[in-house]
Amino acid sequence: MTVTVMSDRIGRSIHELPTPSVLIDLPTLHRNIEQMMGVARDSDVALRPHWKTSKCAEVGRLQLGAGAVGLTAATAAEVEALVDAGFDDIFWAYSPVGAHRIRTALRTAQRARVLIGLDSLAAAEPLAEAAVAEGIEFEVRLEVDTGLGRAGVDADDALTVARRLARMPGLVLEGVFTHEGHVQGVGADPERRMSTGTAAGRLLVEVAETLRADGLEIPGVSVGSTAGARSAPRVAGVTEARPGTYVYGDENQVAIGTVDPGDTAMTVLSSVISTQRGEPVLVDAGIKAMSSDGGMHGDGRIGTVVSDGGGLISVGHEEHGFLRGSSPLQVGDLIRVRPNHACGLTNMHSHVFAVEDGVVVDIWPVLGRH
Ligand SMILES: Cc1ncc(COP(=O)(O)O)c(C=O)c1O
Repeated sequence: MTVTVMSDRIGRSIHELPTPSVLIDLPTLHRNIEQMMGVARDSDVALRPHWKTSKCAEVGRLQLGAGAVGLTAATAAEVEALVDAGFDDIFWAYSPVGAHRIRTALRTAQRARVLIGLDSLAAAEPLAEAAVAEGIEFEVRLEVDTGLGRAGVDADDALTVARRLARMPGLVLEGVFTHEGHVQGVGADPERRMSTGTAAGRLLVEVAETLRADGLEIPGVSVGSTAGARSAPRVAGVTEARPGTYVYGDENQVAIGTVDPGDTAMTVLSSVISTQRGEPVLVDAGIKAMSSDGGMHGDGRIGTVVSDGGGLISVGHEEHGFLRGSSPLQVGDLIRVRPNHACGLTNMHSHVFAVEDGVVVDIWPVLGRH
């Protein structure tokens, strides 16, 4: 019996890979990293990419190598994986609620700078108590809702919460942050995206100035999204940008024009497994390979075929994708599919193949998935 070990696949054509497999096109990845670094430099802000899009240490290292100041994470597993991989400056942009998150904060803070984002005193108090018990201090950032309607204090409440945070032993209030994800929801109109992102940046800067006028030191003013990357960070007073999706790009960004189709680095390699129905053709990229994140086209597609023949994966069962609108395909044919949402897809796979000119150059584990 021949056992194929992973490393045997390096140097092979992608046509020899098992399917479904995630491919990351290296030249496109490098270009995206450089391009966003340039966008951040033009806006005169530090870049701290959200790592949840890749969860690959190799991608994080490329981002830091290009000039990023550190990385952003969402889950405790991501923070632990980053610290284990040697990253030493992380913004954990998620309220540290629950004993397991406090444990992660304590464990990782000994080995790295871990800034922690939160939006309530209820989340802050147990963290502060843990810090005092350990004789350490945690740097925290207060999340402000600038329009997404997800986490974050209302701007009007920020001063009250910030004053209390600043007085809590064990915590150092480092700054404020927002995720202006509603810029993506604005859709394909670049002017509306610009005005929405700018408004989010301005609101966050206003909050920071209010806090400073009250005597608080607020060095960090951090915004973050791919759709808002060319608007919110340009507001004077913003110090940091945290886009994530840009690094791979995906169909949701392509649909609204924030990523060029040629700049999407991530595809899923998939095989045609049945043509019994004629149309749809069945492929092995179902929801376990693609995730079922809805596309921004509103047509229910779970993936867009970017290889010759085209078509859309309109419906997915677990291991079956229903491909419509392609030119004729045979059982065994390979297709490449652009996912709706790169970050959701990453979390479904244990590794990705870094490829160049159709050849596997490296295999990167996806870390911190749970
Ligand atoms: C807190 C936070 N910051 C930054 C980002 C990055 O945004 P995007 O994926 O649009 O680049 C996200 C994404 O969800 C986020 O939740």
